[in-house]
Amino acid sequence: MRQRSWLFKWLGIGIGVLLLTAASYSEDSDDWQYEECKLSRTGPPATIVAIDEESPNGTLLVENMQINGRAEDPDRTISLSLRDNHDYWVILDPVKQRLYLNSTGRLLDRDPPSYIQSIVVQVQCTNELVGTVILHEVRIVVRDRNDNTPRFQQPRYYVAINEFLESIYVTNILEHTLLESTNRTFDIPLTLSGSVVLRERLNYEEITRYLVIVQANDRAPNPKDRLTATTTLTVDVLDGDDLGPMFLPCSLVDNTRDCKPLTYRASILELTDPGRVNPVNVTPPIQAVDQDRNIQPPSDRPGILYSILIGKPASYAEYFSLNQTTAELQLLKPISREQYQHLDLVIK
Ligand SMILES: *[C@@H]1O[C@H](CO)[C@@H](O)[C@H](O)[C@H]1NC(C)=O
Ligand SMILES: *[C@@H]1O[C@H](CO)[C@@H](O)[C@H](O)[C@H]1NC(C)=O
Ligand SMILES: *[C@@H]1O[C@H](CO)[C@@H](O)[C@H](O)[C@H]1NC(C)=O
Ligand SMILES: *[C@@H]1O[C@H](CO)[C@@H](O)[C@H](O)[C@H]1NC(C)=O
Repeated sequence: MRQRSWLFKWLGIGIGVLLLTAASYSEDSDDWQYEECKLSRTGPPATIVAIDEESPNGTLLVENMQINGRAEDPDRTISLSLRDNHDYWVILDPVKQRLYLNSTGRLLDRDPPSYIQSIVVQVQCTNELVGTVILHEVRIVVRDRNDNTPRFQQPRYYVAINEFLESIYVTNILEHTLLESTNRTFDIPLTLSGSVVLRERLNYEEITRYLVIVQANDRAPNPKDRLTATTTLTVDVLDGDDLGPMFLPCSLVDNTRDCKPLTYRASILELTDPGRVNPVNVTPPIQAVDQDRNIQPPSDRPGILYSILIGKPASYAEYFSLNQTTAELQLLKPISREQYQHLDLVIK
């Protein structure tokens, strides 16, 4: 009895142990099988990496996908392959779970015409133990390298502006680049807008044409990496009506733009009948021109009106009149030399 009970006890323990082992083995085995193909890492499900555009062929994209399982015979538990690998940009080494760039014979370029800003592929994992399939997304972000020089939309720019304008918008020459003008007269204050403005007054009489060299820089963080382009802006200054007329012929006072005082002369025989001398022969003929020679459009150019401002003797007005449009001098009545040998008229 004692012996039997010992045997039963022993058997009981033996069975108990066996059962226990079997149960824990089967639980272990299920876990392990279904863990295959899952990510061993924590974090977001997609694997996200960044590479520079124009990276060479064979550039390592992902060092290790960190997928549970063994993809190599013998004792293979998983099989890895790529899905949605458009244009075969990605190469998979399944044993090492590595991804490489395949840029054989082409350029990975973010810029036109390729516009490849990211590559998305799926790493397909087949669980060889239970036959399930899991897809792991890999996003490869293509970083922009500063490889493109900014380009002006036009090879050169032209604008014509009135000399009176101050600090106005001249022309908008491009967007999204920094601009630097070489000429102090012109400025590009909001460097991103590309608007060229005037910084100082223009004077047609001094300079009629400006050549402004405009430089565009891109905005690479490191100044020495910045790429540039230049263009010329030609600014023709149009004449504004800022100057008075001048009498001709004009001989300049030295080093100025002022004419020397000019005297016109005329001789009339005393007691001559006006009808015989009119218009009075004046030497040189009275004539004036606007010093603003290039007012545009020409129809905006004002005409010149002539008049006698004052004269000596004060009775000059009885004897002379001036045609206000032609500047012809008219004798109104005969002059007696006994009364006047000399008359001075100031003409406006
Ligand atoms: C491109 O890189 C891959 C991965 O390293 C390599 O297998 C392949 O031979 C390379 N192609 C060329 C043309 O070098
Ligand atoms: C690499 O890309 C080229 C061009 O698309 C393709 O012909 C070649 O088969 C790819 N190589 C691999 C190993 O995928
Ligand atoms: C600006 O341009 C004008 C005409 O081209 C030139 O005379 C002037 O010296 C320039 N100013 C500067 C600061 O370069
Ligand atoms: C001035 O001269 C013009 C052109 O000869 C003539 O038509 C006009 O009548 C003259 N004016 C006067 C006030 O004589």
